[in-house]
Formats: sequence, C-alpha cells, structure tokens
Amino acid sequence: MTKDSPTRLTERPEWQALKDHQKAMNKVHMKELFDQDSTRFERFFAKGAGLSLDYSKNRMVDETLDKLMALARSCQLPAKIDAMFRGERINVSEHRPALHVALRNSSDEGITVDGTDIMPEVRRTLARMEEFVWRILSNQWRGFANKPFTDVVSIGIGGSFLGPKLVSEALRPYWHGNLKCHYVANIDGTDISEVLRRINPETTLFLIQSKSFRTQETLENTEVARQWFLSNGGSQELISKHFVAVTANTAEAVEFGIAEENIFPMWDWVGGRYSLWSAIGLPTALTLGMDNFRALLAGAEAMDNHFRSTPLEDNLPVLTALLGVWYGNFWGADAHTILPYDHYMRGLPAHLQQVDMESNGKCVTQGGEPIDYETGPIIWGGAGANGQHAYHQLLHQGTKLSPADFIIPLRSHNPIADHHAILFANCLSQSQALMQGKTEEEARAELASQGLGADEINRLAPHKVIPGNKPSNTLLFERATPQAVGALVALYEHRTFVQGVIWDVDSFDQWGVELGKQLGKGILDRILEGETTGGSTDSSTAGLIRMFRSRHMPES
Ligand code: F6P
Repeated sequence: MTKDSPTRLTERPEWQALKDHQKAMNKVHMKELFDQDSTRFERFFAKGAGLSLDYSKNRMVDETLDKLMALARSCQLPAKIDAMFRGERINVSEHRPALHVALRNSSDEGITVDGTDIMPEVRRTLARMEEFVWRILSNQWRGFANKPFTDVVSIGIGGSFLGPKLVSEALRPYWHGNLKCHYVANIDGTDISEVLRRINPETTLFLIQSKSFRTQETLENTEVARQWFLSNGGSQELISKHFVAVTANTAEAVEFGIAEENIFPMWDWVGGRYSLWSAIGLPTALTLGMDNFRALLAGAEAMDNHFRSTPLEDNLPVLTALLGVWYGNFWGADAHTILPYDHYMRGLPAHLQQVDMESNGKCVTQGGEPIDYETGPIIWGGAGANGQHAYHQLLHQGTKLSPADFIIPLRSHNPIADHHAILFANCLSQSQALMQGKTEEEARAELASQGLGADEINRLAPHKVIPGNKPSNTLLFERATPQAVGALVALYEHRTFVQGVIWDVDSFDQWGVELGKQLGKGILDRILEGETTGGSTDSSTAGLIRMFRSRHMPES
C-alpha cells in the first residue's frame, strides 16, 4: 500500500467486483461462450509491434475485461507506466529507476537519471559494441597467435546469461557462421570443463558478464578460464587480447585483471534480468552481427511504444498481465505455462522464469506491508510439440490450473515437408482441447462407436472425460525475426511490470536470492575449514557438511 493507493488491494470495490464476477463465471464453460458468439475470435484479438494475440480462449466476457481494466486503473497503471519510462525510482527498495527501455530508445527523447541524460551514454556504448563486433568479425582483433577468433566463451549467470543465450538461440538462422558462442554459468565444474575441452586458447575470446562483478559463480569460472589460458600458451600480457568484461563495477573488474579499455559499462538503472539489451548482449551481437542486434532492439522498442501509447483495452502486455491476475488471484492458479512452438525458442521458459519469478516472487508491498493475496506464479513450460507427449496430460486432466501461452510463428525458418503445418495443427489442437475438453456423453459415444459393451463403457468413460475450460492465449508472429523476438521478450517484461503494479510489489529487487548467497559463504568456510569456524548450524546442514568433509577431508 502506498500513498497513491490508499485502500488495501483486496478491499477495493474493483477487487470485490471481480470476486463476485468470478462466482458468476464459475458456472460458465468456455465452449458455451464460443457456441453463443461466432465472433469471439475477432472480438478478443489484439495486435501490436508485429505480434498478434488471440485471447478468446479465456474464461471471460466483456464484463470481465471491463472489471480487470477498472482494477488496473484503480492501481494507477497508466501513471505507473509513464513513471517507468520517465525514469522514476520505481525500484523502491534499492532506490533506482528501471530503465531497460532506455537501452532500446532510438528516439530523440532524453531520459534523465540524477539530472543527467543517460541517452548519450547508451548510444556511445552501442557505438563501442558496434566497433568491437566489427573488429572481431572482420578479424581485425585477433588472438595471440594472430589467428582469427573461432570461439567466444560468455561467462555469466542469471540475467547475465539467460537473456543473451535465449535470443541468440532463438535467432539461430541469423548466425554469421564462423564464431561459435559457448555459455558458462554454473559453478558445477562440469560446465566450464566441458567448454574448455572444446576450445583452443589461441582463438578463444572470453566475455566476462557480471553487472556486480561480485557473483561467486562468475568470478570462480573466470579464474578457472584465466588459469587455463595462462597454462595453455597465454600470458599475463595476452589477457588483454582475450578477456573482455561487461560490468557496472569497473574497479573490481580491473582489479581482477581485465584491461580497463576492454570493459563495457552496465548501469544501476538496468536490472540483471532486463539486461540483454545492454552490452550484456555482446554474445548475441557477436553471433548475429550488430545489424541484427539493432533489429532486436528495434523490435523491443516497437513493443515499448505499443505499451506506452496503446489504450489498456488493446494493449498486449496489459491484456496478458490482467488475464494472469484474473486466474492467479480469482481462480486459484498457481502457475503459468509458456509453450513456444518454435524449436529455436525452447529457452524462452527459462528466461521468463527469471524475468517473472525474480521480479514478482514477493510477499510485501512496496510500502513493506505483508501481502494477503497471491503474487507471481510459477513459470514453467517447454517446446511444443514435445511437451504434448509429456506434461500436457496435467494441463488436460490434472487438478492444477496453469493457464498457457501458445507462441508460434506463421512461417518457419525450415519449411520442410508439411512440418510447419503439422506443428501449427498440433498447437491449435492443444488450445482447442484445453478449451473444449470432452464431455461424458462424448466419451461414451466414442467408446460405443468402437463397439464396446455397456460394462466396459461404464468402466472407461470417467477416465476419458476431459473437463476443458482451461484458458490459453495464442501469440503469433510472421516469422522469428530479430524484431519479432525483441518484441516478444519485451512483451513479457512489460507483462511482468503490469502485474507488479497491480500487486504493488517492487518488481526490480531480488532480496530473496541474497540470503542464499550470504549463508553460502559461511557454509563454504565450514566445509573448507571445519565446523569450528562460523556460528551455530542446524543439525541437518551440519550433518551434510560432515558427509562432504568425510569424502574430501578424511583426516578431519
Ligand atoms: O542472484 C541473482 C542475480 O543477482 C540476478 O539478479 C542477476 O541477473 C545474477 O545474479 C547475476 O548477477 P551479476 O550480473 O551481477 O553477476
């Protein structure tokens, strides 16, 4: 609760109206809504930034939308959207703006932070990226044996990993071809070992990606990479040819041994999970070329413009966010499913897990008061059609409600045989099956048509009934181009923001993940130095530490 929203969310008339409306809608099956209205598809369809959204397969009527919009207005959504774009300190617990939109702003509009227009610095960094990418791709910048680079190893985790990896993979058809990009994120030694096994130090460039330059996994992996480089023909002087960093913490990167001229900036006003548009996107720019990276930014900017200027009723991030609120807060949905029917985009659920769950997995309001309603859902999913032969069963007949987003291009980059038509048919058959289900009557008729007797029909029919009425959206675009992928990722960023506004949480901090980091340090000390160090430990953690030490420090 903030001074702008004087009444608790759940006590507002708009919230109560939605609660009452849910009771009425509970008796309605979506199939009936489609039967009653042949124009439902046309009426619940919206477009923006090259994306199309069919949201007709939702448990809603016009009144539902009106009530959701009223809730959004009661939360001052339009003013809050404006505040984000203007650079207000909407990350209240860290007292920072959240200005990922500045990274894709190609207009003349200045954006001010602490009295300084940040746009010149954004443009300068893009120009530096452009030059760097050109020097690498044109073989002007070479490895120590004067050979062109063949491999880039990006070392980073969380937002310094998931976003660049997703967009690079999603845009596989746009790769330049010669430079292979590897990602190392995990502190599990397997991750970096497997990469080091495949590369040649003479022709490998290491990109150290860390906004804070304090992340244990990234620093440990960087140290391993440095030692490997030094013991495989490299030298201290050659580090500046092979190690480049992206960070907001230049001092610690320099102290670590990265040459200052090899450091690209990051800024406090960009959250890690929103940073793929900054120099953290260098692995993407190197893989796709700078023109395609700029096209990615342009796609995201088109979505920013759509989000900022389109009425709430036609606004893709707003519509999708409010439907998520509808299910999460009024229908008991704990999860939201992301189903990219595009093999190149199979990393989308993992990226959106961080974007959404790290942003809205919160339990106090912006004012610090405990929350008495549900906030961010569990985000999960995977590539279609593969999931149809696995977890879709739960979507169709399980007891959990997890509304789904089906995401599919109209054209494939690989149009072989009838594959894309079959993929498209699979996608539609899933959303249709989720919506209409199968009644007992239909199940019985089907079994009878197979020649089964009455006893067998009675036995099998309950298993064959599929409740249906399971909501989904379908998001379409022409082809998975850099623009489309940029717009899609930006859509989900803004969707997350809108939900954060409704729930009155700080979507841009992540204090929860800090506790593990804090405790991890003490536990590591105990593992390495024995149980006498550090404070008291619960018996479970102490017992597990003993087990580890008994294998690795048997003398202790
Ligand atoms: O631990 C979570 C987190 O702080 C994310 O928010 C961030 O994207 C990731 O760690 C990596 O942080 P950094 O870029 O500072 O290394």
